[in-house]
Amino acid sequence: MSIRLGDVAPDFEQDSTAGRIKFHEWMGDQWAVLFSHPKDFTPVCTTELGEVARLKGEFEKRGVKVIGLSVDPVSDHNAWAGDIEETQGHALNFPLLADADRKVAQLYDMIHPNANDTLTVRSVFVIDANKKVRLSLTYPASTGRNFEEILRTIDSLQLTDNHKVATPVNWKDGDDVIIVPALQDEAEIKQRFPKGYKALKPYLRVTPQPNR
Ligand code: BEZ
Repeated sequence: MSIRLGDVAPDFEQDSTAGRIKFHEWMGDQWAVLFSHPKDFTPVCTTELGEVARLKGEFEKRGVKVIGLSVDPVSDHNAWAGDIEETQGHALNFPLLADADRKVAQLYDMIHPNANDTLTVRSVFVIDANKKVRLSLTYPASTGRNFEEILRTIDSLQLTDNHKVATPVNWKDGDDVIIVPALQDEAEIKQRFPKGYKALKPYLRVTPQPNR
């Protein structure tokens, strides 16, 4: 069954490079990014895992834990780790699930048989501290992901959870935002957005990012 936005992220227990992981317990009260890659010892995956290791501090700043997955065993993950550090300049610093029995891949619908009947596609799930799925992405094996974009969407989710705003196309942290159309009370708007706003249309009101 597919996992939809707002669903509780399914819990699981699986082996990893950091030992046995019970997913919800491992998350604790933090957010998580759970992402799959097709296979160890493959070029695009090598670059992706090096990049996530490089960005780990950025995820941590946002209260987000990262965890990877493929259907390879822990022994392969550990053997491959040296290649990632050697070629990407960043050592693996987050757990990789070893989903050799495909338990998690099936739970999260990460195997798309018409793309590849045994390997996982490049799935990404952003899960919030309430264990709700807030973003899901699926990329093909041939296309490496942009993990800066995952950080950008987390910035948007965390901002819009706390303020009555939405973020426009290509927004990045610090740019102007949009006041949600449902907010119509001018006194509340003044109180929430003391720097004012520009109404390009009645439904398109732009204001400086309120937490800056
Ligand atoms: C890669 O990571 O380069 C890759 C993995 C599986 C299929 C194709 C490419």
